[in-house]
Amino acid sequence: MPSSFASGCNVLIQGSSRGIGLEFVRQLLGDAAPGRIFAACRAPQASPSLVDLAAQDPRLGLLKLDVTSEPSIRAAAASVAAEVPRLHLVVNCAGLLHDRAAGIAPEKRLADVESDALMASFAVNAAGPLLVARYFEPLLAHAERAVFASISARVGSIGDNRLGGWYAYRGSKAAQNMFTKTLAIEWARSRRNVICVALHPGTTDTELSRPFQANVPPQKLFSVERTVAQLLAVIDRLTPADSGRFLAWDGTGIAW
Ligand SMILES: NC(=O)c1ccc[n+]([C@@H]2O[C@H](COP(=O)([O-])OP(=O)(O)OC[C@H]3O[C@@H](n4cnc5c(N)ncnc54)[C@H](OP(=O)(O)O)[C@@H]3O)[C@@H](O)[C@H]2O)c1
Repeated sequence: MPSSFASGCNVLIQGSSRGIGLEFVRQLLGDAAPGRIFAACRAPQASPSLVDLAAQDPRLGLLKLDVTSEPSIRAAAASVAAEVPRLHLVVNCAGLLHDRAAGIAPEKRLADVESDALMASFAVNAAGPLLVARYFEPLLAHAERAVFASISARVGSIGDNRLGGWYAYRGSKAAQNMFTKTLAIEWARSRRNVICVALHPGTTDTELSRPFQANVPPQKLFSVERTVAQLLAVIDRLTPADSGRFLAWDGTGIAW
């Protein structure tokens, strides 16, 4: 657990059924510091790993939350508020790059662009974290240090876009980044305890990246264990001056 958070701090990991989000839950449970850890995802009972972890540690609470459903976000926030008065760390992990069942795949060219895929990507990647902020904000309204982090992606950087392609993912991650920055500006005025950042995890061995790993050199493909340890170290070092920044796994800044 990041040492900059006090013992008894409460955490929400959103998008925790698998991949990076699940590993955040695992590593945070490996530390004695957190009071409660809430793991939110669309179908917690369908994630055997989450169910096992919850059976082993009473600090873990499983929450149903679909970022594309505003009522489900509102209800999840109400469930957390019924159990704890405040949160100290919120990490938005849910993300969409491809979904075979829904016919969503990263576009190679303009002719591949489809409205449904664009809308689904924007709903999950961009609107999702912002709506989570909207409904969980009251739990961040306190005087203690708090971090609101959204896992973004370097390919969402407009300044760093050299290859093109992946319209829906790039565009929705760029929108997620804009929402993060805009929220950080608002919270710098109204919620000065909250540090609000976008984080790039590095290419990580999960279902999301699996179809695209062929050209990634082994040393640049991180395990989820490595990625989450690195991101927790970045989160630990954040200061209020970092709020509104887009940071990579090694703490370096990325161009918007
Ligand atoms: N892996 C990489 O190389 C990489 C690189 C850069 C950025 N990222 C970013 O890192 C984050 C985590 O990605 P990952 O690699 O861990 O992906 P992953 O293994 O595919 O996991 C994606 C997560 O998002 C959840 N999700 C999808 N749609 C959702 C919805 N409507 N509501 C709630 N949850 C939803 C999934 O839950 P279900 O089980 O319900 O589908 C799952 O828990 C994403 O934001 C991704 O864009 C990843």
